[in-house]
Amino acid sequence: MKQFPEHFWWGAATSGPQSEGRFHKKHANVFDYFYDQEPEKFFNQVGPDTASNFYNSYAEDLAMMRSIGMNSVRTSIQWTRLIDDFETNTVDEAGAAFYNQVIDEILANGMIPVMNLHHFDLPVELYQKYGGWESKKVVELFAGFAETCFRLFGDRVKYWTTHNEPMVVVEGEYLYQFHYPNLVDGKKGVQVAYNLNLASAKAIERFKKLALPEAQIGIVLNLTPTYAASDKPSDQEAARIAELWNNKLFLEPAIHGHFPEELEALLAEDGVLWESTREEKQTIRENTIDFLGVNYYHPNRVQAPDIAPNSVGEWLPNRYYDEYNLPGRRVNRDRGWEIYPEAMYDIAKNIQENYRNIPWYVSENGMGVSNEERFMDDQGVIQDDYRIAFVHDHLSWLHKGIAEGSNCFGYHMWTPIDCWSWLNAYKNRYGFIANDIHTQIKTVKKSGHWFKTVAESNQLGAIK
Ligand code: GAL
Repeated sequence: MKQFPEHFWWGAATSGPQSEGRFHKKHANVFDYFYDQEPEKFFNQVGPDTASNFYNSYAEDLAMMRSIGMNSVRTSIQWTRLIDDFETNTVDEAGAAFYNQVIDEILANGMIPVMNLHHFDLPVELYQKYGGWESKKVVELFAGFAETCFRLFGDRVKYWTTHNEPMVVVEGEYLYQFHYPNLVDGKKGVQVAYNLNLASAKAIERFKKLALPEAQIGIVLNLTPTYAASDKPSDQEAARIAELWNNKLFLEPAIHGHFPEELEALLAEDGVLWESTREEKQTIRENTIDFLGVNYYHPNRVQAPDIAPNSVGEWLPNRYYDEYNLPGRRVNRDRGWEIYPEAMYDIAKNIQENYRNIPWYVSENGMGVSNEERFMDDQGVIQDDYRIAFVHDHLSWLHKGIAEGSNCFGYHMWTPIDCWSWLNAYKNRYGFIANDIHTQIKTVKKSGHWFKTVAESNQLGAIK
């Protein structure tokens, strides 16, 4: 049996835009707008209108989460639900009442609420008016929104995160076209990466000023460790740059308070470095995180690029590395992602050794599988043994990292209840709890029952 530390968080994560549905929401975020404009881009044309109906069924949903042993849960506060006027930060009373009820209900179920402030859901008006995260005005407005959240809910919420996977905003909106506005503009992407770092630091600055008792603030990053295809210097160099761009660009400012010098030098040489000021950099230096959330799904294997980087016209960071598919890898066929649980250990050691062993938790991990009805038994329970094996193996490697001193305090699955997943909509299911999207009837999967035994015993045994 593998014993986990006392008070270990066992739970799962979702987000406002992926679970609530748009019920009574007055404003559109970039994804709402994207769907309204181009529904055909979304799998089966399913949009965020209903999601998993959390707006209406949060009480039942949270009770179900508790019933499978969860002691903590993360969701996010939608800027487009809580705020009525983004310029003046006027609060929408119905929006505030909703989040108050959700938070109270999480607490009433004996769970710890973790509230995130930005999960790909920028108000589209702020894109149309200012260019969204390209603009420092929007950075300021975000800090104001964050402060409003701390003031409204900080008496009960003790764990806050500023962004979820800010890198995915850069990639989706500015590089690889899977988030509205679907641009391909590396230079703007670089500025957005900087601005998102600044926005996080400014939110943390507001947070600190309020000095909420016993409250902590962090950020959720998708730390996908980079592995070079070989020991060849060219593959190693590709991996070094991929790691700088994909991970260190957010990790270093969040924890060390400054950007990696090598990355700044490279971006300057390529003529795409961000615009920054001394004051802003000081804000970043002085407002680092208290804890880190790490989302991990699959490793990032790279090799030297086929084409010489500077022979490519458009500047994109991936000119420096090509994807590498490891022959014989274990893979989740439905999602096409490699399954590599050992990376959990590598992440744990990296944080321990290079990031002052800051307190951290796994804020997302999980396995998306399509058509899960095919695994349903006579009782209507999805027999997702593959998911149990997936979580088991990742927890095993995580445990090894913890046993060697990495300061990890929890594990959250993506996601408690099957929810809406951006362009993929409901294609792949990730939950411990299945959701019939036509009836909104929710049923615990085999993995949910299994998770309960792990969570309640606080230990991991062999899978039967
Ligand atoms: C993550 C993201 C989640 C969810 C998940 C599964 O990258 O944070 O919002 O969509 O992927 O697709």
